[in-house]
Amino acid sequence: MCGIVGYVGDKQAARFLIEGLTKLEYRGYDSAGIAVYNGESDAIRVEKSVGRLAELEKKIDGNVPVGCMGIGHTRWATHGGPSDLNSHPHTDCTGDFAVVHNGIIENYLALKEELIEAGHVFKSETDTEVLPHLLETYYEGDFEAAVRKVLRRIEGSYSIVFMSKADPDTLICTKQDNPLVIGLGEGENFIASDIPAIIARTRRTYIINDGEVAVVKKDSVWITNRRGEPITKKVFEVNWNAEAAEKGGYEHFMLKEIHEQPKAVRDTLSGRIAKDDSAVILDELKWTAEYVNSFSKVFIIACGTAYHAGLVGKYYIENLARVPVEVDIASEFRYRKPIIDDNTLTIVVSQSGETIDTLAALKEAKRLGSKTMAVTNVVGSSIAREADQVVYTWAGPEIAVASTKAYTTQLIVMFLLGAYMAGLRGTVEDSRMKELLGKLRNIPAQISETLEDVDPIKAFAQQYGYNDDVFFLGRALDYHVALEGSLKLKEISYIHAEAYAAGELKHGTLALITRGIPVVALATQRGVYEKTLSNIKEVKARDAVVIGVAAKGDTELHKYTDHVIFVPETDELLIPLLTVLPLQLLAYYTALTRGCDVDKPRNLAKSVTVE
Ligand code: AGP
Repeated sequence: MCGIVGYVGDKQAARFLIEGLTKLEYRGYDSAGIAVYNGESDAIRVEKSVGRLAELEKKIDGNVPVGCMGIGHTRWATHGGPSDLNSHPHTDCTGDFAVVHNGIIENYLALKEELIEAGHVFKSETDTEVLPHLLETYYEGDFEAAVRKVLRRIEGSYSIVFMSKADPDTLICTKQDNPLVIGLGEGENFIASDIPAIIARTRRTYIINDGEVAVVKKDSVWITNRRGEPITKKVFEVNWNAEAAEKGGYEHFMLKEIHEQPKAVRDTLSGRIAKDDSAVILDELKWTAEYVNSFSKVFIIACGTAYHAGLVGKYYIENLARVPVEVDIASEFRYRKPIIDDNTLTIVVSQSGETIDTLAALKEAKRLGSKTMAVTNVVGSSIAREADQVVYTWAGPEIAVASTKAYTTQLIVMFLLGAYMAGLRGTVEDSRMKELLGKLRNIPAQISETLEDVDPIKAFAQQYGYNDDVFFLGRALDYHVALEGSLKLKEISYIHAEAYAAGELKHGTLALITRGIPVVALATQRGVYEKTLSNIKEVKARDAVVIGVAAKGDTELHKYTDHVIFVPETDELLIPLLTVLPLQLLAYYTALTRGCDVDKPRNLAKSVTVE
């Protein structure tokens, strides 16, 4: 999730480009760059630098690029670590074309091979650089026609701004699945990934839809659809303040990130399921059956929410690939002399990629001879650099301390890993694999469906939000999700919430269940459904208030609970991706009800870099 901007007008472009990028830095801050053209000099001037935007500002200080047309970018690395060469804008072999891009070009490897074959010279490791080289290939004097040919060749999610030296008064931009807005000025027009970048200059905007192509000049904006047919756009008048704009109109980053989960999951799945749903594709691993069969044991090591994702990962890898998995808290693992040899695979999970305990556990596993891989959300992070291999979650920057979209994308990668290993070991029938991957493809839409109606959860938060103790119950995968639900509630509402394996209650904790105490009980796992019901009856018998979580079509649970939250039906292996959503929302609205600082809860940090 990068930030892109563009400017064409009467004024100096660089000023707006830097100002706009400053407002978009919450989208990514690995590197930044601008390209500006004054219509006279013999080249487009490109200035870019690894690190925060301030590094770029320092670099051009006293020598700001001159020109009234330009594009800019602040990067959240996906393909190719943070570096000057991987920074955007990217240009073609001649330097006559420059491009900034947000998103993932899924088929970039094949296009890059073809272009290199044709003599193009690439400077970076990015997927984006195929765009200016394709433009160079197709340009025959008609900028828009060349852009359309480029768009016909690429697959994936993107918002892009194209710049051509031969067309010094025109920028062309387009999008697919990633946001793009055009700000309408007087004698100038602005392009940006998001409204915060332009709100200081204009409140009159065009919100660009998938497949639309906009030809932007200083005094006109010509928009057509994928087929080139003209479109009349309605002006969207922005009435948000700048801070609200950064949150996309949501009150908090946490709520914004909860609602970004359909896209985060779609991006994390992109290019990783074979077109016929027969197999998982993890090109970054290139494992063989022989390699996977050499693992006598898998460790999954992490902290906090990532640890909870690891617990679900154990379930997926053991259930699908039949390889034994141990899950451990990183701060415990590194000091308990784990039994490891070179037939051990250690997987560390970390959103930030900087959590010190997880990094140290990774180093310890390597020291003991384990093969290692990381599941992380930050390209170029310490953990990504330390691990032998990395599978990235594409959740984009997660700003709120309480992790939400990173958790669901970690579950996705855990499932992909289990199915990938199963594919290599032949431990899952082809028909079952197709069924599972087909249902997995449907998860982003089901997440959107689940997030549609939050009112009942708001009501529970207001009704039970003043309790000091809340319990979460579940069996099997439900128990693992209950752990995550209780952590979310704890860390942002400061309620003492505890999650228990439902069968464990009668061995002590049941003593804590008294009249009116809220119990959130998940019951989605068929194999242990009746057992879960009987545990719910145990707490009901002590007059607890039970909020059940079940799959649509469940006709039993409401008989034994005070309330039921339904999520769409899917395979019980995949349902944690849906049942966690109402728990995230319950924590959010409870924290709101209690007047807590949702995005920056007390005593916590987004990335824990101390022991
Ligand atoms: C989760 O909401 C917390 N922010 C915290 O438990 C977090 O999951 C933990 O610190 C691990 O962080 P990481 O994924 O960046 O390594």
